[in-house]
Amino acid sequence: MTEKKDVTILAIESSCDDTSAAVIRNESILSNVVAGQKVHEEYGGVVPELASRAHQQHIIPVVDKAIKEANVKREEIDAIAFTRGPGLLGSLLVGTSFAKGFALASNIPMVEVNHLQGHVLAHFIQEEGEEHKAPEFPFLCLLVSGGNSQIIVVRDHLDMEVIGQTIDDAAGEAFDKCAKVMGLPYPGGPLIDKLAKQGNPDRFQFSKPRIAGLDYSFSGLKTSFLYFLRDQLKENPDFIDENKEDICASLQKTIIDILLNKLIKAAKETGIKEVTVAGGVSANSGLRDGLTEEAKKRGWNLFIPKFAYTTDNAAMIAITGYYRYMKGEFVDQSVAPYARMVING
Ligand code: KG4
Repeated sequence: MTEKKDVTILAIESSCDDTSAAVIRNESILSNVVAGQKVHEEYGGVVPELASRAHQQHIIPVVDKAIKEANVKREEIDAIAFTRGPGLLGSLLVGTSFAKGFALASNIPMVEVNHLQGHVLAHFIQEEGEEHKAPEFPFLCLLVSGGNSQIIVVRDHLDMEVIGQTIDDAAGEAFDKCAKVMGLPYPGGPLIDKLAKQGNPDRFQFSKPRIAGLDYSFSGLKTSFLYFLRDQLKENPDFIDENKEDICASLQKTIIDILLNKLIKAAKETGIKEVTVAGGVSANSGLRDGLTEEAKKRGWNLFIPKFAYTTDNAAMIAITGYYRYMKGEFVDQSVAPYARMVING
C-alpha cells in the first residue's frame, strides 16, 4: 500500500483590511498570521485605497512570519492558495499578485479560493494535538460578516447553496453603521458586544423587518435606530452617554432575533439539525449564547468557530485551498481577482 503524501500549502488572504498568511499541512494548521490595519479607524470605515497600500506593506513580513512559525522550508510548500474574491479589488490584487510571483519563483501550482467558502470551511481547520470534531454533511451555515448575511446549505466541502441572504445591508454593517450613529469608532460590532454585556436588552424596542422566505434585511433597522436616537437626543442631549449600555444591548438583541428567526425557519424547512455559524459577527457573544440556547431547545448539533477563525484569516483560505488542491483544481498565471464572486460561483 502506498502511503498518502503530505500536502503543505501556503495561503494568502487580503480581501478587505486584514493581511494574513497561513501554512497548512493536510488539514492541520501550522501557522496563521494576521496583520490588521489601524489606518481606517479615523475614517469610520475601510478606505479601499489605503487598504491596498497597507496590504503591500504587510504582505512580505506576514508571509515570512507564517513560514517561520510553521517551521517549514520553502521547498516543502506544494502549492499557494489565495483569496480571489469577493472583496475590495485593490486589496485582492495585492494577494493575487503575490501568489502569482511566489508560484512562479517556486515553480508550484496556484489554487484560487472563494473567501465566503473559506468562512464556511473554517470548521474543518485542525490544530495540532487537538481532538477535532467537524460538522457532518449536509449542514446549515449562518454566514454573518461585514459584507454578508447568508444561510447556506453545505452538501460537501465545495458544494454549497445559498437558501437565504440579505437584500440590503449585512448584519455586520448593521452593527457598524448603528455604532457610527452612536459616535463609536469603527468597527463598532465588537464595541456594541462589549457594552451590551452591561445593558438591559429589553429596555428599547426597534423595528424588525417582515421579509418573505429566508432572506434578511437590515436597512430598516438602521433607519429606525437613527430616528430613535434623533428623537431622544432632542429631549436629552446626553441620551446616548447616559444609556449606551441599554441601547447597545437592545440593538444587539434585535439583530440576533432577526438572524435566529430565519435560521430556525431554515432548519425546520430543510430538516437539517447540523448547524454552524461563521464570519466576523459569529464572534458576537450574544449570538453565540442565542445559538447555544436554540440548539439545546431544538436538538441541533451546533458548531461555533474559534475566535481566531471568525474574522478574516488565511487559515480558512488554507483549508479551502487544501480541498481544492486534492481535487486538482488549479489556476494559471492568467487568473485575475474577482470582487463580486458569489459562494457557489
Ligand atoms: O468576517 P469579517 O472579519 O470581515 C468580512 O469579511 O466582512 O467581519 C467583520 C465584521 C464587522 O462588521 C465587525 O463589526 C463584525 O464582523 N464583528 C462583530 C464582532 N466582532 C466582529 N460584530 C458583532 N459582535 C462582535 N463581537
